[in-house]
Amino acid sequence: MPKVTFMPLGQSFEVDDGTTILVAAIRNGVKLRHDCTEAICGTDKVKILAGQNNLSPMDDNEELTLSMLESDDADRLGCVAKVLGDVIVEIPAE
Ligand code: FES
Repeated sequence: MPKVTFMPLGQSFEVDDGTTILVAAIRNGVKLRHDCTEAICGTDKVKILAGQNNLSPMDDNEELTLSMLESDDADRLGCVAKVLGDVIVEIPAE
């Protein structure tokens, strides 16, 4: 099973293939703000520190939302980015 590591917490969790970063966080008690879960609000923007290629490709909504935020290539939206292999994810400070 793929492993998601949340930074700066340094906690790792195994998840089912295809689990979104947001669901991985919620199921494991990691707080990640999420106001829409549809790749629209951008509140769950996270930075991928490693394993970018182990995530599902961006869909149009995610690409558009990230382009409207101050984002770089390492940023993804937790509600739609699906984990397909090991990733290290930096979550925003509350
Ligand atoms: S929760 Fe709104 S973009 Fe992910």
